[in-house]
Amino acid sequence: MTIRGMLPDDVGEVKALLDACFGSSAWSEQSILSELEKPDSYCTVAVKDGVIVGYLAFEQIADEGSIIEIAVLPDCRRQGIAKRLIESASDSSEGLSEVFLEVRESNMPAVALYEGLGFERIALRRDYYDAPKENAIIMRKVYENSCD
Ligand SMILES: CC(C)(COP(=O)(O)OP(=O)(O)OC[C@H]1O[C@@H](n2cnc3c(N)ncnc32)[C@H](O)[C@@H]1OP(=O)(O)O)[C@@H](O)C(=O)NCCC(=O)NCCS
Repeated sequence: MTIRGMLPDDVGEVKALLDACFGSSAWSEQSILSELEKPDSYCTVAVKDGVIVGYLAFEQIADEGSIIEIAVLPDCRRQGIAKRLIESASDSSEGLSEVFLEVRESNMPAVALYEGLGFERIALRRDYYDAPKENAIIMRKVYENSCD
């Protein structure tokens, strides 16, 4: 399994991956492409046997990072792919001091992933999500800044 930067040609395959993971609430191809083209965005894919099995959209503005989206194909889960995608993004980022994300309160696999990586719950945003309406947990990880 390799992790590499996403390319515009990957949009169709990433769309299929997000459909498999999020169903009708998956991003459109246009949203995936817009995310890829944002100047502060760092989109990566995990590739196994020539197939995109994982996707991460990460953004960094100054020293603050955000996990915007992450997904791994159902058949490829629990193999450390999401963990590697996040670690690869944080390793490649310069001057990162903290990373934030939001996650559905009921999304146990994702919360377990983030807590395992050292993210902490810092707030709850009531009814943040629609379809179905649900609270968001806001999580943060503080990174050692080499300048400190
Ligand atoms: C959340 C998601 C990205 C995790 O991807 P993954 O590649 O399976 O995660 P990893 O294999 O890297 O898991 C790393 C650790 O996270 C935790 N974890 C991940 N999935 C878990 C699950 N279903 N149950 C319990 N712990 C879990 C475990 O501690 C795991 O380590 P372990 O397998 O050694 O026990 C994946 O389940 C997914 O795509 N879900 C649908 C999309 C989604 O909800 N994205 C998050 C939106 S905020």
